[in-house]
Amino acid sequence: MVEPWLAGDPDALYMAAPFKAALALSRLIPRGRVLELCCGVGGLTRGLAAGHPVLAVDRDPSRLVQTAANLGGAGIEARVDLICCDLTRPSLRPGGAWAACVLDPDWSPPGQPPRAWASSLEKMRPPAGTLARWARGFSPRLALRLPPETDLAPLAGLGPVQAWPMLKHGREAFCFALVGDWPESEAVEL
Ligand SMILES: C[S@@+](CC[C@H](N)C(=O)[O-])C[C@H]1O[C@@H](n2cnc3c(N)ncnc32)[C@H](O)[C@@H]1O
Repeated sequence: MVEPWLAGDPDALYMAAPFKAALALSRLIPRGRVLELCCGVGGLTRGLAAGHPVLAVDRDPSRLVQTAANLGGAGIEARVDLICCDLTRPSLRPGGAWAACVLDPDWSPPGQPPRAWASSLEKMRPPAGTLARWARGFSPRLALRLPPETDLAPLAGLGPVQAWPMLKHGREAFCFALVGDWPESEAVEL
């Protein structure tokens, strides 16, 4: 069944993160506020907000309208602030005490459809390595949602990195690259 807040937006439907993955990630994050960059239609936001107050950012106002509907449907809109901002020219200043920063960039290079995955972090939108280095100024804990087999070496300078696989029928659908101070975590079957 297609949720009403996704009707007519096949790209958003393709990119939305499964709720189970979002909840699993939320449970790993210690108490406190979460900064979510590239929130899309709020697939991750819904799970994160179950355990944390969230500030969610995306550059696409229509996606933020869908996120608001998504959160409203779940009755958790009061736990989330939404900001429209192009993260290649962010107006937010690093700092503050954030329990974690969660990043879910578009996996495709500029001008490509969502299913054409980029071969490296910097070819994603926004460039995910650059975004992660900036995000490190908000929290010692980063979680990037990335396609399988992404080269995580560019993140190594930001702290310890572990790939936490999310599986569908035993095969990796995507992973969270956990950077910094995270517990060791077993793969999750979605
Ligand atoms: C993979 S989707 C996020 C999916 C989301 N986590 C969900 O579960 O619904 C990537 C998002 O990155 C956003 N994005 C791409 N470039 C951006 C930029 N420069 N600044 C802010 N957001 C950007 C897109 O608008 C899109 O909503």
